[in-house]
Amino acid sequence: MRTHYCGELRQEHIGETVTLYGWVDRRRDHGGVIFLDLRDRSGIVQIVSDPQRTPDSYELANTIRNEYVVEITGRVTQRPAESLNPRIPTGEVEIYADKIAILNAVRKQLPFQVSTADTENVREDLRLKYRYLDLRRDRMAQNIQLRHQVVKAMRRYLEDNEGFIEIETPVLTRSTPEGARDYILPSRVNEGEWFALPQSPQLFKQILMVSGMDRYYQIAKCFRDEDLRADRQPEFTQLDMEMSFMSQEEIIELNEKLVCHIFKTVKNIDLPRPFSRLTYQDAMNKYGSDKPDTRYGLELVDVSDVLKDSGFKVFKDAISKGGIVKILPIPNGNDAISNVRIKPGGDIFKEATDAGAKGLAYIRVRDNGEIDTIGAIKDNLTPEQKQEILTRTGAKDGHLLLFAAADAGTVNKTLDRLRQFVAREFNLIPEGKNNFLWITDFPMFEWNADEKRLEALHHPFTAPHPDDLHDLKTARAQAYDLVLNGFEVGGGSLRIYQREVQSQVFETIGLSTEEAQNKFGFLLEAFEYGTPPHGGIAYGVDRLVMLLAGEESIRDVIAFPKTQQARCLLTDAPSGVDGKQLKELHVASTVKPKVKE
Ligand code: AMO
Repeated sequence: MRTHYCGELRQEHIGETVTLYGWVDRRRDHGGVIFLDLRDRSGIVQIVSDPQRTPDSYELANTIRNEYVVEITGRVTQRPAESLNPRIPTGEVEIYADKIAILNAVRKQLPFQVSTADTENVREDLRLKYRYLDLRRDRMAQNIQLRHQVVKAMRRYLEDNEGFIEIETPVLTRSTPEGARDYILPSRVNEGEWFALPQSPQLFKQILMVSGMDRYYQIAKCFRDEDLRADRQPEFTQLDMEMSFMSQEEIIELNEKLVCHIFKTVKNIDLPRPFSRLTYQDAMNKYGSDKPDTRYGLELVDVSDVLKDSGFKVFKDAISKGGIVKILPIPNGNDAISNVRIKPGGDIFKEATDAGAKGLAYIRVRDNGEIDTIGAIKDNLTPEQKQEILTRTGAKDGHLLLFAAADAGTVNKTLDRLRQFVAREFNLIPEGKNNFLWITDFPMFEWNADEKRLEALHHPFTAPHPDDLHDLKTARAQAYDLVLNGFEVGGGSLRIYQREVQSQVFETIGLSTEEAQNKFGFLLEAFEYGTPPHGGIAYGVDRLVMLLAGEESIRDVIAFPKTQQARCLLTDAPSGVDGKQLKELHVASTVKPKVKE
């Protein structure tokens, strides 16, 4: 019977006989004394075997190799002064192994070293293919346990402090309104019809409010077939919540308390409350992003009004077409960033063009406000324009001003990207800061240039701001996102619960009554039977855990993630199915089978 986990043993256990189970992280032979690092999910402890003190285990210890599964019984002993290991929590003790049993051996060559002592950077495709080995490694074992702690803290807070109940909603369902592509599944028994996997439990949770459940939450799997990035997976987990009879302020307050509870419980961090807030408009103006990283400054400055009559064609054209000109001022940028980098062929120039900019104008500020730039800009700036630019940007000797001039979307995208690039490059991001920020007052709609129509920015059930009902097209939404250090970790809104408002919203996005009925008829009907005012939010659990773990990809906090190509390398999914299965499902593939070479 196991008496302890490996990572628990401390000085207080000295003298006890313990039984441990685990994997052999490393075996070292020090001339007649064998050391085994024994590992389980809690950590590592050192086991010792030698012919004098532990004659019964010595022979066997000699045969053990890395990653064997063993049972060890022995005495907890103080390590001699010269072999104390302050890098591990069990570093003051070691176990003299009176008895060792090999429970299982490793029969194949390990594809990579699993040992905690091994810091080699293993290729991610290997880690994903042999995920069970990867999860044994300290970093991943810690991340997965941290994830569990986070979810546990969510449950405890919501259930025990706030009276939320968890309700499961279906996975086989209809298309939901989150706006990504659906994963769909053919129905065998309903010929020619399809289920969609939920992009979120949005419609069900609103119906649960009509049902009187009052406060619902769920740790919910969501599925979105969209382009993948480090913080996006096709299958991800939300903490999904919905509540009735609460104002936006009450919902925000409850959620801040929830987040504070999570940080206190899992990291012992006291987050200051209330969290900061920015309106969407202010966020876009200052940072060019609705999820700005506010751990550093580098705020953008709009100079469209100053340059609207500029003789420099690039500025003038952009503004005359309804666009804008904005500046990213970089203190001391002159010394650090050479012309080569901001001209065609340079890395910073490329960042700008990758974001959609056609070029990258700049001004270098010298002593006494002298400026240094290309002639076409310098010759076309009046002294007043120059002075106004210096005043607005607060530019002093050494400042580099990077300009973007285009439509507002491109300008913001470009400067947001450059701002993040420069912050990383100059190490402007302070360690250990958790900058939570609510973004509020999102617009209700945004223009979809491809389809030439307005579409709901959040989703079509988000309630407009009561002051803006006279013109829905430009109305603000009662929607809020929670941003942490530049990542959108959550988002939600108050919902429409009055039929007239809902009809107006459908009309604004060009959804006919029939289409609305066809897509969401069941929800609209439910709303006819007494709907409480309600609202909710959903957090990206993977993103929150990634940030708490200090990781850069959500793949590192998901036990079995997909690759960038949306594949599972462990099971090799997705895979083909045989013709019989397809036939039963009334489906035929249009893909020609690959010819074997
Ligand atoms: P939204 O679409 O903003 O809102 O999603 C909520 C949060 O889920 C996370 N997220 C993702 N995480 C990983 N991979 C993805 N592909 C992915 N997509 C989203 C983000 C995001 O903030 N039904 C609404 C919520 C509501 O209104 O209550 C919704 O799903 O952290």
